[in-house]
Amino acid sequence: MTRSPIENSPVGSAGPDDPDDLLALAARLAREAGTLALGGRRGSLLERHTKSSTTDLVTQHDRAAEALIVERIVAERPTDAIVGEEGAAREGTSGYAWYLDPIDGTTNFVYDLPAWTTSVAVAHHGTTVAGAVYVPVADELYAARLGGGATLDGAPIECSGEFDLSLALVATGFSYQRVLRAEQAASITRLIAEIRDIRRSGSAALDLCWTAAGRVDAYFEAHLNSWDAAAGELIAREAGCLTSDFDGGPADPSNIVAATPGIHAALIELIGRSRP
Ligand code: 2AM
Ligand code: CA
Repeated sequence: MTRSPIENSPVGSAGPDDPDDLLALAARLAREAGTLALGGRRGSLLERHTKSSTTDLVTQHDRAAEALIVERIVAERPTDAIVGEEGAAREGTSGYAWYLDPIDGTTNFVYDLPAWTTSVAVAHHGTTVAGAVYVPVADELYAARLGGGATLDGAPIECSGEFDLSLALVATGFSYQRVLRAEQAASITRLIAEIRDIRRSGSAALDLCWTAAGRVDAYFEAHLNSWDAAAGELIAREAGCLTSDFDGGPADPSNIVAATPGIHAALIELIGRSRP
């Protein structure tokens, strides 16, 4: 597992560079790469390949969008490290590292469903400093910088005010690995009777942003990678959500919860009780 930029984020420093500049760059890169992928999707035949399993897909547009972001970062910030879903791996010397998911929700992208995003985060020595998640089909941009609040298209967003878990709409997702997915589904069969309902968008970054904007009350998922969760976790936290792992420790892509504060503790307790 790639080292997570979200493990120690609440306590670290934002680093020497202006966080507003870093956020502006993250937002520009997410918007540009997402727009490229959307244009490519509409303008050419899809070349589909599989990765970790027969259902884990990648297309030429995932690769082109990541290449665009990498090219821009190398040009503008040549000493930063880069970690990207489609293989970008660049060492740096500045202490800053970029976490890129050019298309989060690739299955939706392939099926031409609208729930996919481009996610760009930058961390300083493991502390996420700024993150942007662009939703190309909706032309919506979620963004946050450490200590600066979260926005949707420039307007501040806040998590929901729900405090009753039995009334909470909860997003989640399932792994590409069939065995893990079956275990996750077994948990859901226990959990779903104790909440309002489940939503499964297919993009972890989007689920975190929906939680940030109060479009759902909470989100949890296991087996993610750093690039899936880095930007969305900061956006959720800056919108007032509590974020953690399934045991209430620091948020980690291998098991992450983001919830409005009124239901966070109860949701963690329920996730624990619902484990197979
Ligand atoms: P992707 O679309 O970029 O591949 C769906 O539940 C969410 O989890 C998506 O964000 C998807 O990312 C991610 N995901 C699903 N299975 C995964 C796995 N085995 N490893 C990492 N991310 C996974
Ligand atoms: Ca992803």
